[in-house]
Amino acid sequence: MKLKKQILFLFISLIALVSLGRLSLVSYDSFIILDRQPYLQMQTYDSITVKWQSPQEELGCVRYGKTDLSQKACEIKPRRRHKVVLQGLEEGTQYIYRVEANSLHIDNTHRYFSTLAKDINKTQYIWLIGDSGKKSVYQLQVLKSMQEYMLDKTLDFWLLLGDNAYTSGTQKQYNDSFFEPFQDFLKTHVPWALNGNHDARRWAFYDIFEFPTLGEDGGVASGTEKFYSIEQGDLHIVMIDSEESDLSKDSALVQWLEKDLKSNTKKWTIAAFHHPPYTDAGHDSDNSMDSHSRFSLTSRLFLIRENILPVLEKYDVDLVYSGHSHSYERSKLLHKHYGDSTTFDESLHLVQDNDYAYCKNIKKTPYAGTIYTVTGSSVKVHKGDLQHPAMPFSQNKRGSVLLEVNKNSITSRFINIDGEVDDIFTLHKKIKCR
Ligand SMILES: [Fe+2]
Repeated sequence: MKLKKQILFLFISLIALVSLGRLSLVSYDSFIILDRQPYLQMQTYDSITVKWQSPQEELGCVRYGKTDLSQKACEIKPRRRHKVVLQGLEEGTQYIYRVEANSLHIDNTHRYFSTLAKDINKTQYIWLIGDSGKKSVYQLQVLKSMQEYMLDKTLDFWLLLGDNAYTSGTQKQYNDSFFEPFQDFLKTHVPWALNGNHDARRWAFYDIFEFPTLGEDGGVASGTEKFYSIEQGDLHIVMIDSEESDLSKDSALVQWLEKDLKSNTKKWTIAAFHHPPYTDAGHDSDNSMDSHSRFSLTSRLFLIRENILPVLEKYDVDLVYSGHSHSYERSKLLHKHYGDSTTFDESLHLVQDNDYAYCKNIKKTPYAGTIYTVTGSSVKVHKGDLQHPAMPFSQNKRGSVLLEVNKNSITSRFINIDGEVDDIFTLHKKIKCR
């Protein structure tokens, strides 16, 4: 009996030691300041932010200009976490830039960025990756397959659908799984990241990323980095934190969403958040225990479906993208499906029973239909059942989504890591749909 007690004590002590060690390591990795090459943040119509981290405290400077590096902005205090805001820029304009630091070797080759444009008359491209935060060869493979498809066309937005650094979103995990594989791409593209449940386990996410709070990128000012809009040309993108925000009906998020969408006059509206309303892959949108909210005992997937979707659909949001399940799942044009999968009724919820082409009236109409997509298989892949009746186009394959936004149509492609287009659909807007 005594021996049994001793073994149990030893076992519990070992578990406690391992847990404590892991907690210490993860906490250390969360606060550590690691070297980090410069990357772009807070792209607006007249400014952009350049951030990087150096091994020693020093003053950082950024040289920039449209054709030469004749302009210069510097920090006023030496630091290791650098942030230089370039202001007074011209709208919709490309600039070259060079970052100056002493203690960090910076790769300054091919560094350029563009400011946002309020009015543009060209096709816009948006790249979406989801749950891409496991260090692997796949980050570069999804990037390469998108770039090979794009050829010389310019990407306008890069959206990350959350869980961008596994398993705890520490500074070190962000360096290993995000900054390292995307190092070159980050020289010229602004990552607009959503906060996933893995990112939210530590405190690095809002230190690494910066988001508009005052309506700097269009839409209604939210007063928080947790939800905001970005507008360019005919496009209105709503970015929603579904992990740490209250998702209840009378929450600040829902109140802002109502205001933002009500005042939105753009032709195309896209919403993105980490937790999907409909999924049957690694996560199950029928399971009330799946992905609990800290604000209630309800699943975040349920809260999104019950409290966010009615607002999105009321204001005629066209496309919704999520991650969380490591799969690709896609609906047809839907509305008013706010229950679990057993309540899905094609006669009630399907607006158009087409597979690849949909049409909506050019005039915004409440509940005119929304297409929902889960894109959480950019790096990890679940062996999910993929049986959700609202999501007939589903597969467990690695890849990413490329959106092509034209004047009268928007096309979404799922490009797998071999460069093949596995799913494609187009939503048209017309004065009259047949
Ligand atoms: Fe997740």
